[in-house]
Amino acid sequence: MERPTIPLGLGTAAIGRPQYINIRQKDASAVSLDTFRQQGWEVLEEAYRQGIRYFDTAPGYGLAEPLLLDWVKEKADDRIEVATKWGYTYLADFDPNATQHELKEHSLSKLNEQWLQSKHLLPYLTTYQIHSATFETGVLENEEILNRLAALKAEYGLKIGLTTTGAHQLAVLKKALAVEINGDLLFEVFQVTYNVFDQSLAVVVPYFEHNNRRLVIKEALANGRVFPNKKYRDYEPAYQKLQELAKKYDVGIDAIALNFCINSLPVYKVLSGAAIPSHLSDNLKADQIELSEKDLQSLKVLAISPEKYWKERKQLGWN
Ligand SMILES: NC(=O)c1ccc[n+]([C@@H]2O[C@H](COP(=O)([O-])OP(=O)(O)OC[C@H]3O[C@@H](n4cnc5c(N)ncnc54)[C@H](OP(=O)(O)O)[C@@H]3O)[C@@H](O)[C@H]2O)c1
Repeated sequence: MERPTIPLGLGTAAIGRPQYINIRQKDASAVSLDTFRQQGWEVLEEAYRQGIRYFDTAPGYGLAEPLLLDWVKEKADDRIEVATKWGYTYLADFDPNATQHELKEHSLSKLNEQWLQSKHLLPYLTTYQIHSATFETGVLENEEILNRLAALKAEYGLKIGLTTTGAHQLAVLKKALAVEINGDLLFEVFQVTYNVFDQSLAVVVPYFEHNNRRLVIKEALANGRVFPNKKYRDYEPAYQKLQELAKKYDVGIDAIALNFCINSLPVYKVLSGAAIPSHLSDNLKADQIELSEKDLQSLKVLAISPEKYWKERKQLGWN
């Protein structure tokens, strides 16, 4: 019998580009592109084997989207859901010394160009998102774009979504929640950053209870900042708390931090950004524990201001 769907999905950013904005444990540039691709395939296989059926990707993630396309066609399992995005172009061409890794462009022509590629993910593609919607690009006020997304929604039965990033993500999300095209709310999927350090999205809970909107969490491990790191001295009490709970529940810090996201918001999925099978197995332990209410509360007090959080995030380089 099929196991119940697990609350974790796999984000494919780190299996698509050797360089990524995270605190990396290993030098990612040390392997050939073929080996890197093979490793990515193994992560997809392992995720599937361990019960993951939700995969998040983007053309901006280098080879991730075409890799996922090949894999999903071979798997041919209609329980698989794919979410992709449009709006970023990958430029680095797998060069670790690239000066520019990606380019953001929220124009109708970029949407149309990237849709032509991403539509090959149908019928597994359920979710089409604006990649990193912000006020600066004006994408939530661009009627041509919003109408085009509404047309894709109607023609292909897609859920239209957006991802948010930065200290203003709460305001962007609130604006998106109200966008209507021809009297219908456009957006149904909201992929947001939320973790023990940035909990500012917790106030949107009422918008996601008792309706079909989907809340998807990214950067649940704060790009690796939840792991003890001498660079972040202010987090020492947080590191102690996370380590104490990891010991108590006999899992890693990652499983505690991911479980916090699963249990403190009405989430549809929390994304694991694992780049190797062993991290994935560690991350999936989040689904095998249940933090007590008291322990959840002890993590809620670890939040810092979104301004501080995103200032630190900006200082993380591509590596
Ligand atoms: N829409 C957007 O703008 C956007 C932005 C960011 C992410 N995302 C999506 O969200 C997904 C997840 O985000 P993310 O990967 O950036 O953030 P994340 O989950 O917060 O952080 C991943 C970090 O945790 C480390 N890690 C994971 N498991 C570990 C373990 N068991 N032991 C030690 N270290 C471990 C990774 O190390 P390694 O680096 O060594 O693997 C990496 O540094 C992405 O794949 C992507 O699909 C979307």
